[in-house]
Amino acid sequence: MPPKRVLITGGTGLIGSRLTELLLEKNYEVRYLSRSPGKVNNVEAFEWDVKKQTMDTSAIAGVTGIINLAGAGVADKRWNQDRKKLIMASRTRSTALLKDTLRDIPNQVKVVVSASGINYYGYDTGGVVKKEASRFGDDFLATVTKAWEAEADLIADLDIRVVKMRIGMVLSRDGGALDKMKMPIKYGLGAPLGSGDQYVSWVHIDDLCRMFIYAIENENISGAYNAVTPYPVTNKQLTKEIGKALGKPVFLPKVPAFALKLALGEMASMVLGGVRASPEKIMTEGFEFKYPGLKEALSDLFA
Ligand SMILES: NC(=O)c1ccc[n+]([C@@H]2O[C@H](COP(=O)([O-])OP(=O)(O)OC[C@H]3O[C@@H](n4cnc5c(N)ncnc54)[C@H](OP(=O)(O)O)[C@@H]3O)[C@@H](O)[C@H]2O)c1
Repeated sequence: MPPKRVLITGGTGLIGSRLTELLLEKNYEVRYLSRSPGKVNNVEAFEWDVKKQTMDTSAIAGVTGIINLAGAGVADKRWNQDRKKLIMASRTRSTALLKDTLRDIPNQVKVVVSASGINYYGYDTGGVVKKEASRFGDDFLATVTKAWEAEADLIADLDIRVVKMRIGMVLSRDGGALDKMKMPIKYGLGAPLGSGDQYVSWVHIDDLCRMFIYAIENENISGAYNAVTPYPVTNKQLTKEIGKALGKPVFLPKVPAFALKLALGEMASMVLGGVRASPEKIMTEGFEFKYPGLKEALSDLFA
């Protein structure tokens, strides 16, 4: 019997909002754990404070599945030491708070699906195909995802099934990476970044949310999974395809790496480096993509 009451942390964000729509369509009852429950009006929301390590524990009553998405935006602000601490702590401390609550409060939770990222493999991986057993990287975001996954793994000690979704670049209608890439291309200012040859492992937001639901509903799914399509593209191909889909051909020369480093600081590694991740594991478990190819994904998102 699949769990029908699902609690989402960070449910107000890009992924959580779409995931909520798809869960509600499937007659799930959805709840959020949020820093600002008063601002949520589509589902019942409960307060938590990750810094103070407190939460309204009535949130977990009757919940059988948790989806853990909370975390400060990695691309929202330039990284300095304080921002890096927040990016890390908002993920590890929130997951630790979930674990402590599940350990201390009687509950019926059977599965926790926790977000992670393909940044796990590091950002300087060239064209090497990364599978779930591949080694983790050593840059900042690799360190964050490794620590985040380690916290999630501790929940498995409570006899709860744990799934870690290593998410790639999420393409969605509003917000997220596609919005940021679309804008300059629309105004004829789009250009590949750095060498343009770096791999972008992407996923249509609906496929990603369907993957989260698949993980909730299928007991054979546990451990880490790359949440990306089987057809990654290079940054150059992605920029050109977005241009084609918008009817705005991209003709400008590449933006040099030094200019991006100057503008973005260490954060530039996110766009200059690439990861070519394989979703073979989740496909072997029976998951089918609705939008495996970039052309059909973009034509759906720009429709
Ligand atoms: N989008 C992508 O392309 C992508 C790729 C790889 C991995 N991911 C991971 O997937 C997760 C969800 O992504 P998303 O794009 O939906 O993120 P998002 O839009 O930034 O939403 C994240 C949510 O986390 C909560 N949050 C923000 N700052 C927080 C803090 N300091 N402490 C505790 N909670 C905080 C917020 O919910 P409240 O305000 O309600 O508390 C926010 O709505 C993220 O953790 C992200 O790292 C995303």
